[in-house]
Amino acid sequence: MKVVAIVGSNRKESYNKKIADFMQKRYTDKIEIEIMPIEDLPMYNEDKELNPPSVVTDIKKKIIDSDGILIATPEYNHSISGFLKNAIDWFSRGDKVMVNKPVMIVGCSPGALGTVRAQMQLRQILNSPGVSALTLPGNEVFIGAVHEKIDESGKLVHEPTIQFLDTVMNNFMDWIQKVK
Ligand code: FNR
Repeated sequence: MKVVAIVGSNRKESYNKKIADFMQKRYTDKIEIEIMPIEDLPMYNEDKELNPPSVVTDIKKKIIDSDGILIATPEYNHSISGFLKNAIDWFSRGDKVMVNKPVMIVGCSPGALGTVRAQMQLRQILNSPGVSALTLPGNEVFIGAVHEKIDESGKLVHEPTIQFLDTVMNNFMDWIQKVK
C-alpha cells in the first residue's frame, strides 16, 4: 500500500513534519509513506491551470498513483495554513486528483487544542466538489502540547499518542481497502 503525505507547514523544524516523519518510519513494514515536496508548488493561478508547471503535474501524478493521502496540518489563525490550502487548490482543478482518494488527517500544535479548528475546516474543504476526497470518518488525531511529546532528536515519544496513531493508521488501512 502506498500513501502520499502532505505536510501543511513549510517550516524547517515543523512539528507536523516530525509527526509525518515518525509515521513514515513507524509504519514502514505496513505501508509506504512518501512526503510530497509541496514547498515547490507555486502560488495557485487559474491562468496556469490548463498548462501548469511540471512540479504541479509531477506531484499530481504521485497522488494519482497512490492508494491514499495522509495530511499533517498545523493550525494558522483557527484555520489551515495558506501553504496547505494552496496545494489543495492545485489538486482540486484540472484532473481532480483527490476525488475518491482516501484521506487520513493528523495535526499538532504546541497549544492545548492540537489543531481542532483547522481540522474541522479541512474536513469541510475535503468535501468540496473539486476535492471530493473520502476522508476517514471519526479518528480525529489532535496532538496538543506537541513540544512536550517530542524529544530533542525530534522523535515522537509520547506513548498514548503513539498508541492512538497506531489505531488510527490501522483504521485508515481498513478504510483504504473498504472504499477501493
Ligand atoms: C500559529 N499558531 C497557532 N496555534 C494554534 O493552536 N491555533 C492557531 O490559531 C494558531 N495560529 C497561528 C498563526 C500563525 C500565522 C502561526 C505562524 C502560528 C501556532 C502554531 O500552532 C505553531 O507555530 C506550530 O508549531 C505550527 O506548526 P508546525 O510548523 O510546527 O508544523
